[in-house]
Amino acid sequence: MTTSSGLPASTLPPHFAYQNQRLMAENVPLDRLAHEHGTPLFVYSRAAILDALGAYQRGLAGRKHLICYAMKANSSLAILQTLVREGCGLDIVSGGELERALAAGVEPSKVIFSGVGKTRAEMRQALTAGIGCFNVESRAELDVLDEVARDMGMRAPVSVRVNPNVDAQTHPYISTGLKGNKFGIAHEEVASTYRHAATCRGLRVVGIDCHIGSQITQTGPYLDAMDRVLDLVQAIEAEGVAIEHIDFGGGLGIDYQGDAPPEADSLWAQLLQRMDARGFGDRMIFIEPGRSLVGNAGVCLTEVLYLKPGEHKNFLIVDAAMNDLPRPAMYQAFHRIVPLTPREGEPTTWDVVGPVCESGDWIGRDRALVAQPGDLLAVMSAGAYCMSMASNYNTRGRAAEVLVDGENAILIRARETAADQLRSERALPAV
Ligand code: LLP
Repeated sequence: MTTSSGLPASTLPPHFAYQNQRLMAENVPLDRLAHEHGTPLFVYSRAAILDALGAYQRGLAGRKHLICYAMKANSSLAILQTLVREGCGLDIVSGGELERALAAGVEPSKVIFSGVGKTRAEMRQALTAGIGCFNVESRAELDVLDEVARDMGMRAPVSVRVNPNVDAQTHPYISTGLKGNKFGIAHEEVASTYRHAATCRGLRVVGIDCHIGSQITQTGPYLDAMDRVLDLVQAIEAEGVAIEHIDFGGGLGIDYQGDAPPEADSLWAQLLQRMDARGFGDRMIFIEPGRSLVGNAGVCLTEVLYLKPGEHKNFLIVDAAMNDLPRPAMYQAFHRIVPLTPREGEPTTWDVVGPVCESGDWIGRDRALVAQPGDLLAVMSAGAYCMSMASNYNTRGRAAEVLVDGENAILIRARETAADQLRSERALPAV
């Protein structure tokens, strides 16, 4: 089946489709939003987020579980609220994310705190808030947390992040479960770390966790990591330290370019089978999905500024750039780029680039498009790790964001102005 743009329908994620030659998010034409709010503009589909969450909820139905959305993927307040209102907890990695999480109304006990470099101030902030678990990544961190909690007359709930030494078979920058990565405590040292933690008066062991990487498209690495973690749980519990919950992290990939990751429900059907077979069927399960909940629920709309055909390359210069969409520059990532209102004609092969003064500022290479200045394009699969990684490079304000729900579209973030950026700066005294 093909759409009116000539694109196979299957290349567009659910809730994004052409109707009468206009690309829609649910029932809202995206060109209308671009005209109303300007570009670059991020647009998210609430239904797409809820569908993605639904797959996990189905997969884990009937099991004790907590889905802690890894908010680094997209930490905009309204996105957090959307997930928190469905009962999700949140996986945070900084004091700033904790403040956002609380502003979104999450129950503090449903917050887990990941990351290799928590500061003492962040530990105190999280203990005061009453978060559910610290996912500790080193022995040194464990000891500092113990000290901080004792000073406050508290016991910090802890889980040790296991580095299971499993190859997630993804981009090296987003692979985290191998020995050469900075993350987690080596498999061989985990049992002794738990023995130690159990003797610390400022700590209360509640769980164990792992996260092996991101944009994982195969089931095998998950099963391997699960086996290794379950082996450890057996060993640790044999020594008398109880593990209440097992946190399998996030990492499930999405379809950017014909990728075919398992659906969350079928992945979990397989993982639960393995847990049952090993006698862990009634264990509390935590997960930390990020990208797979929001990645394909968002697009970034951009306007074509100039066509710059050349001898070696044709450049299509658009008003979105690497500060809005850093993934291509950082990971050579692929995002589909499609017109909001397709034109007839013979496509030209373009490198789609932004206005930032760097050759690394590209959004898509060698893309066949029919486009004219003033045309609007959608950069697809831009719901995760785009807005949350956006910067002010070149003093570009961060884009506005809109959340669509059926026929309704609400602005969830105003476009950032230069005045917003200058507000926190201090000029030198007059000479
Ligand atoms: N849990 C932990 C401890 C993590 O470090 C991450 C992601 C997640 C959960 C969520 O992983 P997800 O389900 O989103 O794959 N900026 C990169 C991705 C970095 C992922 C960092 N950690 C990108 O744009 O591809």
